[in-house]
Amino acid sequence: MADDVKHGHEIGPIEQQALDHVWIHSARWLDLAERDGLRVMVRGEGCRLFDARGRAYIDGLAGLYVVNVGHGRTEIAQAMAQQARELAYVSAASYTNIAAVQLADVLAGLTPGDLDRFFFCSGGSEAVESALKIAKQVQAMRGFPKRYKIIARRGGYHGATFGAMSITSSRNEKFFGPFMYGVSFVPSPNRYRNDFGIEGEEGDLRCAEAIEEEIQSQGPDTVAAVIGEPVSVSNSNHVPSPRYWQRVREICDAHGVLLIMDEVINGFGRTGTMFATEQFGVVPDLMTMAKGLSSGYAPIAAVAVGRQLFDEFKKQDVALAHLLTFGGQAVSCAAALKNIEILQREELPQRSAQQGRYLLGRLEQLRTHPTVGDVRGLGLMCAVELVRNKQTKEPFGWGPAAAAHPFNRRVAELMEERGLLTRVFMSIQLCPPLVIGREEIDEMVAIVDESLSVAEQEFGFA
Ligand SMILES: Cc1ncc(COP(=O)(O)O)c(C=O)c1O
Repeated sequence: MADDVKHGHEIGPIEQQALDHVWIHSARWLDLAERDGLRVMVRGEGCRLFDARGRAYIDGLAGLYVVNVGHGRTEIAQAMAQQARELAYVSAASYTNIAAVQLADVLAGLTPGDLDRFFFCSGGSEAVESALKIAKQVQAMRGFPKRYKIIARRGGYHGATFGAMSITSSRNEKFFGPFMYGVSFVPSPNRYRNDFGIEGEEGDLRCAEAIEEEIQSQGPDTVAAVIGEPVSVSNSNHVPSPRYWQRVREICDAHGVLLIMDEVINGFGRTGTMFATEQFGVVPDLMTMAKGLSSGYAPIAAVAVGRQLFDEFKKQDVALAHLLTFGGQAVSCAAALKNIEILQREELPQRSAQQGRYLLGRLEQLRTHPTVGDVRGLGLMCAVELVRNKQTKEPFGWGPAAAAHPFNRRVAELMEERGLLTRVFMSIQLCPPLVIGREEIDEMVAIVDESLSVAEQEFGFA
């Protein structure tokens, strides 16, 4: 029996228990309890999700940029069950297990250059924390104990734990400041609103020079690392020229600064290749990965570490002063191994490139909308940027704050009512599982189109 009725929707027992006891990350209470925003999901199949009321949705965000191989993969479930029966866990401090060894070996064959050592952990934030600590410890071990500063990019997102949050420019000073000391932010490539007012590739390259300027201004012998996502989703999917990343690599090398590339979202086929760094022709010193590593079937993440960095630990016979209990958990590693086997067998990175081109082409047709300022993306990581004014490019809000604007909220609500789950902040994010078919892409685009038309009518844009 329903315990509560709001807005004509019956709240079932499982939904009531969720309202009573579950803290849904970053969701607002009233949105869940009074605006019918609570979704208790029951089942998934391919690109579809089904909730406790039997409603079906297209998962337009692959969960949270996670479920690259799609929902309902029985063979991953079987691989996990078999591993759990054999051995679920051994101490990450002292031992490893067969699944972790096999996973590290497979990853070493996939990651670019000499990134062939893997530090396993449970999620993207932990991977970023680990990469920061490895970078700082390596700098100290190389005789540069004063190299502790990190340069990150405005608009980037690297996670929610303290270190990762500190290098995320939308960090919430009011609630969580002061942050990790020694972090500074530089402009990110943006072909729609370049910080220097320079268009195209030249604008990207100007942003690379801003990193050089920041290193000089901080003092090169104080900087440990530069971090960035190859293509930043939190900064609305601007795709830089490969020359941008190549120049950043040169700048880091010239100053003894380590380069950390955060592939937590980009990795495992999302941008049309196994890792986005391949498309930019650079090899970072450290690369973080999570999400698509297991497609969400188990929590797992990793830092890929360059040989020269690990050699430092070997040569000096010093341990990394860092330990995470669930690093290399065997069942998670078994899930990741099977997930990668599927990605390769079904050529999902290539499919992501093809279907991404089709999706982007379809989204281009939305430019006729009075609120669509730009459309862009790489692989199945596309964005439709929404603006109040196409001439001035004035947005409905900046960064994550844009999600709270009534227009953007209404667009999200209308899409959900029509069966498309995604996120709207400065842009509508379209990043479905890589198995998506053309008809499902057409269905997604039709829902976005119709939802925009309705919201534009209601808000007086049409
Ligand atoms: C680029 C990037 N890095 C790190 C993280 C943090 O990952 P997690 O939420 O798994 O801790 C995210 C999460 O979205 C991300 O997008």
